[in-house]
Amino acid sequence: MKLAIATNNKHKLQEIKAILDGKFESMLSLGDLGLDIEIEETGATLEENALIKAREIVRLTGMPALADDTGLMVDALDGAPGVYSARYAGEAHDDKANRQLLLKNLQNASSRSAHFGTAIAVCYPDGKYLVSHGRVDGRIIDEERGENGFGYDSIFFSDELGKTFGEATAEEKNAISHRGRALRAMVALLNSQID
Ligand code: IMP
Repeated sequence: MKLAIATNNKHKLQEIKAILDGKFESMLSLGDLGLDIEIEETGATLEENALIKAREIVRLTGMPALADDTGLMVDALDGAPGVYSARYAGEAHDDKANRQLLLKNLQNASSRSAHFGTAIAVCYPDGKYLVSHGRVDGRIIDEERGENGFGYDSIFFSDELGKTFGEATAEEKNAISHRGRALRAMVALLNSQID
């Protein structure tokens, strides 16, 4: 079976393909499918947004589709930026501006604990769907560290790894990350469907 992946983010694609390797005949990004679109994330939760994106790609391609939605939840900010993580500093979806605004808003915070959450949805043309979740805990440090990854990775310190996600290799991050965990949970769901 072929699977459409509802993203053009090359980092996300690498992470998704590394973990789903061998599960599908081929995995095609929006670019591979000739789709130059931005799907509006109007849901109130990560799960709703993942389902909105996957269903739209099923509608446009007629193929099974996978979408993920991720948020960074910071305890001192009552869970913000959460579902608004991509647009925290404005509609431009500027990762650097988002990180800078978060560091500014945490300047006087007594706690810096945070977690990433991911919801993954796989939707099929017949309307059936599967949803999985993943979470990783850590804290927001007060300066950027590391050149790897994307988004909030360089300011998210993982106690499990003893470094930021920006300093981690792709393998280290995938082994414990929100998206890695959600994808492995999805693999288990897909396997249980076949059995
Ligand atoms: P979305 O899932 O693409 O909507 O991402 C929401 C926001 O979280 C964007 O600002 C992304 O850059 C950021 N983000 C998504 N996944 C990760 C990750 O694995 N590490 C760091 N930031 C991420």
